[in-house]
Amino acid sequence: MERYTFRVYRFDPEKDEKGRFQEFEVPVKGAMTVLEGLYYILENLDGSLAFRSSCRAGVCGSCGMHINGRYRLACETQIKLLNSRIITVQPLGSMRVIKDLLVDMDSFWQKYKYVKPYLLPSTPPPERERPQSIDERAKLDGLYECILCGCCTGSCTVASTDKDYLGPAALLWANRFVEDSRDGAMIERLKLVDFEHGVWRCHTIFSCQEVCPKELSPTSSIMNMSRKIIAMKLGLIRKK
Ligand code: SF4
Ligand code: FES
Repeated sequence: MERYTFRVYRFDPEKDEKGRFQEFEVPVKGAMTVLEGLYYILENLDGSLAFRSSCRAGVCGSCGMHINGRYRLACETQIKLLNSRIITVQPLGSMRVIKDLLVDMDSFWQKYKYVKPYLLPSTPPPERERPQSIDERAKLDGLYECILCGCCTGSCTVASTDKDYLGPAALLWANRFVEDSRDGAMIERLKLVDFEHGVWRCHTIFSCQEVCPKELSPTSSIMNMSRKIIAMKLGLIRKK
């Protein structure tokens, strides 16, 4: 079995003044993933290593981290496909490290909550459901697939310097409901993101789009809402 060197970011607030890297030799076979490598370390070499994971299938969004120069899902990243015998693993950026690869995502969730990520219909609940046409439903493609992994926020240079910036994930979710034909609160939603730490803070660097494991484009969502806010202020959008 081939052996790879895992360089893993370590930080224990009870012992360390600052973070450091620790190396581990990990035997790798077949399509083993970086997450499986971390579990090998946890179970065989150092039971104190802290990281998040749950589904191990690219669904829950728990295992976003910085792996060999790029934000990725550890459970979807095959070690051998990284084409390097050294695997460097660091926590998500723009967030406080609690321990090792574990970051404090409170602010991330607060911003997600702020954009009201649920339907706000303007009509009473129907007897059965709120139907959508095929075209209306298609407008949500590229928006609903977000798994809230935080890779986009980790990669965003604006989020790393402006702690109040809503960030790419929350703004993508705001747009997901702006574009939903069943929603009745477009104006309210646009007003929520129309401020200095909202859509106008994005520098359109597209780093969020480059790293998103679901190939989504938060930048496009931000630009879409920016255009709609201008239209709203020109009186071209009155209500929905
Ligand atoms: Fe993750 Fe992509 Fe959603 Fe950002 S937009 S949280 S990178 S799935
Ligand atoms: Fe769920 Fe990786 S463990 S996305």
